[in-house]
Amino acid sequence: MISIDWDKKFEVGHERIDFEHRVFLDLIRTISAEVDNGSGKERILRLLAEMAKYAEFHFLSEENEMLNVDYPDYEAHKQEHIRLLAKFSDLVTEFRMDVIPLEKIVEYIFSWFALHTTQVDKRLADYIRIKEAGG
Ligand SMILES: [Fe+2]
Repeated sequence: MISIDWDKKFEVGHERIDFEHRVFLDLIRTISAEVDNGSGKERILRLLAEMAKYAEFHFLSEENEMLNVDYPDYEAHKQEHIRLLAKFSDLVTEFRMDVIPLEKIVEYIFSWFALHTTQVDKRLADYIRIKEAGG
């Protein structure tokens, strides 16, 4: 099993975004623990539903930050969020239908999180910082 821990590299330097990312990572870790827990599917599906809602909330929160600063990459960044939510929903359906194991969802979400935060969200946080400094 992959280890899902907070890493300094995930920090984008924006308090609110970093806070929400930590909560999101906690949710991934909780779901990851279910892989070996042998919990009932109903509980796992509840946790997956919580993660979907949190992701939706967090993306909206980032998108509002983007609009606040007239972020030039708003559309492209928003598209990444939309694609992730659609993919996540597909994965949950496949899991529910016993097409894929839970590990597949955990692996997918964690690698998406690692890539998206360190690149796409980092660019946004850098932009906000420059804007707020009056640049
Ligand atoms: Fe983002």
